Amino acid sequence: MTTSVHRGAPELSPVHADTVRATLPLIGANIDRITGAFYTRLFEHHPALRRDLFNRGNQAQGSQQRALAASIATFAGYLVDPDLPHPTALLARIGHKHASLGITADQYQVVHDNLFAAIVEVLGAEVVTEPVAAAWDAVYWMMADALIDLEKQLYVAAGVEPGAVFRQVTVTGRTDDAAGTAVFTVAATDAGRPLPEFLPGQYISVGVRLADGARQLRQYSLVNAPGDGLLEFAVKRVPAAPGCPAGEVSNHLHDTVFAGAELEITLPFGDLTVDLDTDTPLVLISAGIGSTPMVGVLEHLAARTPDRPVQVLHADAVPGAHPLRDRMRVLTGRLPNASLDLWYAEPTPGAHTGRLDLTEIALAPGAEVYLCGATGFLDTARAQLTAAGIPAARIHVEQFTPTDWQALTCPA
Ligand SMILES: Cc1cc2nc3c(=O)[nH]c(=O)nc-3n(C[C@H](O)[C@H](O)[C@H](O)COP(=O)(O)OP(=O)(O)OC[C@H]3O[C@@H](n4cnc5c(N)ncnc54)[C@H](O)[C@@H]3O)c2cc1C
Ligand code: HEM
Repeated sequence: MTTSVHRGAPELSPVHADTVRATLPLIGANIDRITGAFYTRLFEHHPALRRDLFNRGNQAQGSQQRALAASIATFAGYLVDPDLPHPTALLARIGHKHASLGITADQYQVVHDNLFAAIVEVLGAEVVTEPVAAAWDAVYWMMADALIDLEKQLYVAAGVEPGAVFRQVTVTGRTDDAAGTAVFTVAATDAGRPLPEFLPGQYISVGVRLADGARQLRQYSLVNAPGDGLLEFAVKRVPAAPGCPAGEVSNHLHDTVFAGAELEITLPFGDLTVDLDTDTPLVLISAGIGSTPMVGVLEHLAARTPDRPVQVLHADAVPGAHPLRDRMRVLTGRLPNASLDLWYAEPTPGAHTGRLDLTEIALAPGAEVYLCGATGFLDTARAQLTAAGIPAARIHVEQFTPTDWQALTCPA
């Protein structure tokens, strides 16, 4: 079964559209305060959501607040100006993330109630009059309905009841590569419930119980080829830095999870996948731990369509810091029409020196380009691709942090 974002033009009534148009600048100017007040309220009333569902690292950094604000502003902007592109990619990104966390339709009312209380708290009841509240209510439920519909389709496609995406698995293997990346292989523990197939580029959420009792979930891209009932993911430690504590889940996994351990994961989801049924050339561009979805794609190509043309481009500080470096090399070596270009900050035999520079290589005409890495790297690579004449529709970006849709110059 295929899933899709429902594109049947949702339409605000003319009265609601006028009100939203008139108040969008005000809401836009205050949206960061509104989302801040929203999460404060939500977690005050439902502390378990902060402890066991939301990513508290993203909360501390403010990235989830920005992503929520930007997604609502982008969606509302589209509703009052349908000449703007349909926010399909935005809805798909959120819907898949929600499905990988088991979000269900009933939770949308809870979010609604706390969000609207936050809007009144920030703007005041004299501004949020009944007509204003009704117009924004319509915006909220149009977006919520589109997400609920997509998430329902994703649960049906996965063959599970809404939200029932969690599985206990056994860690059957762990290897630590030269760059200090831990690669975990997991297998089903529940008899009769094999782990599902997945698409190249998809991820799972991994849940761990931390020392203070919180159950925190993080996403990890799958790095193996499907077919043997196993799932494999690679985790890089997030070290402490000035003003930033060490990453909670990555360090917990590194320090405490070894072969034989049980782990909670969710079924695979993720909208940024590679279509294996065409022979369009691929360009895979990554930096740092952004190599993981690319290794997953290469594994699929090696297993399914080894003749597909693919250019692999990766940038890192030094070869020793490059996650899954040997695996990337071995896989590209096994694909007859693959090439590998590496950029390291220090001069290294067989690699370019310095930062990734796309003017140093010829990209295959008509290629679909996949990008993954830290935000700064993504911005630079995207600008270089645009300068090279690659249309935005052929640039697909995976981000390991919540997407700020308003900061994107060319949405994936
Ligand atoms: C689709 C997707 C796929 C991914 N795939 C991979 C993958 O294949 N491999 C991989 O290693 N990662 C992957 N990630 C990233 C992964 O999900 C985690 O984000 C990563 O492991 C860090 O989690 P953590 O719990 O260790 O860090 P967190 O504890 O969440 O911390 C994250 C950052 O927030 C900062 N922070 C936390 N609290 C505060 C505070 N109070 N003040 C200031 N700063 C703070 C931390 O210092 C750190 O820099 C992926 C993410 C997504 C969304
Ligand atoms: C219309 C309503 C909603 C909107 C617009 C919305 C929007 C978003 C956005 C933009 C993201 C970030 C996606 C990314 O990774 O780029 C996100 C993630 C998330 N959402 Fe929603 N959401 C809505 C409803 C809900 C509901 C009902 C819940 C359940 C309580 C929920 C829980 C979450 C969680 C747990 C995450 C991951 C947070 C993180 O990793 O930091 N959302 N949502």
